[in-house]
Amino acid sequence: MYKSVRFVCNEKLALSRWLYAIERRKFSSTARNNVKVAVCGASGGIGQPLSLLLKQSPLVTELSLYDIVNTPGVAADISHINTNAKVKAFNGPDQLPDAVKGVDVVIIPAGVPRKPGMTRDDLFNTNASIVRDLVQAVGRNSPKALIGIISNPVNSTVPIAAETLKKLNVYDPKRLFGVTTLDIVRANTFIAEAKNLDATAVNVPVIGGHSGVTIIPLISQAKPNVSFPDNQLEALTQRIQEAGTEVVKAKAGTGSATLSMAYAGARFAVSLCRALNGEPNIIECCYVESNVTDAKFFSTPILLGKNGVESNLGIGKLSAYEQQLLKAALPELQKNIQKGVDFVNK
Ligand SMILES: NC(=O)c1ccc[n+]([C@@H]2O[C@H](COP(=O)([O-])OP(=O)(O)OC[C@H]3O[C@@H](n4cnc5c(N)ncnc54)[C@H](O)[C@@H]3O)[C@@H](O)[C@H]2O)c1
Repeated sequence: MYKSVRFVCNEKLALSRWLYAIERRKFSSTARNNVKVAVCGASGGIGQPLSLLLKQSPLVTELSLYDIVNTPGVAADISHINTNAKVKAFNGPDQLPDAVKGVDVVIIPAGVPRKPGMTRDDLFNTNASIVRDLVQAVGRNSPKALIGIISNPVNSTVPIAAETLKKLNVYDPKRLFGVTTLDIVRANTFIAEAKNLDATAVNVPVIGGHSGVTIIPLISQAKPNVSFPDNQLEALTQRIQEAGTEVVKAKAGTGSATLSMAYAGARFAVSLCRALNGEPNIIECCYVESNVTDAKFFSTPILLGKNGVESNLGIGKLSAYEQQLLKAALPELQKNIQKGVDFVNK
């Protein structure tokens, strides 16, 4: 009995080592395997599980955890995990420059989340200056870093980041991203549920922005192909647009999506690391400076490369319903973008 339990444990250990080795080998032919990643807002509801997931990536060799509170504890805890990423804690604004110095990728989930009844735009007053100050530090200390912004309202915080970097003369539109991956993750899940598909094999592009009507799921372009009667298509589209609010309501005042966002943020950050490592065909929908529509920032599928955006893959062919969604999204998105630009320049 004892022997067989030990055998199962040994087998499990061997299996997990084998999987880790495969993962390492998959990247090592082209890989430099030394991406340094900083998480700003690392002690928060998103920041902690996001940092945990990044610690598990063999591509990350250094994980810099910055927040205004609690990073020594979070970093001590995560650093005990036996993967190779070195974890460093940086606490408070005095340590911010060192937190972001020399990093390749910065992910920003700092700032307040929504409570029931709030829109993402209601977070603007608090989060705008948090994002501006963090991005300013990145611009000064790691002007070539790829920056992924999670803090809401993403539609405005990304233009704020762009204007902040422009003021420092280091803005490169190829290196700045709004992280909208959670919208894609949610769309994949809901479509898989509706059609009884393997959720890990579904891919639904989601374009536009990251709030309410600006979130435009392109179900007509889903892989594998799916189709729905009009009323079900509309219900699914609305559920994807309002999925964040579904979580805010369910959490009843204790926060917004943190765990699914950490998963989505880690997926996006790891995609940036893989692209930095020269892996081909890394595509993620994300919110970038764009000339695909009349909105100056717009999320579309983006081919990622060593310098960030390699090429914008555009919106493809939209159904009549999706064209209506796009028309409804643009005025709101343009307003959100202008609000961000004005915040920095007025
Ligand atoms: N992009 C998306 O899809 C998406 C999804 C969910 C949530 N969000 C947004 O992510 C943000 C964070 O959400 P959360 O649930 O983790 O919130 P949280 O309150 O749990 O954590 C936020 C963290 O930010 C830290 N922080 C505050 N000011 C800071 C500063 N100046 N520098 C560094 N860190 C600072 C706080 O100390 C805290 O640890 C919110 O704005 C939320 O709306 C975005």
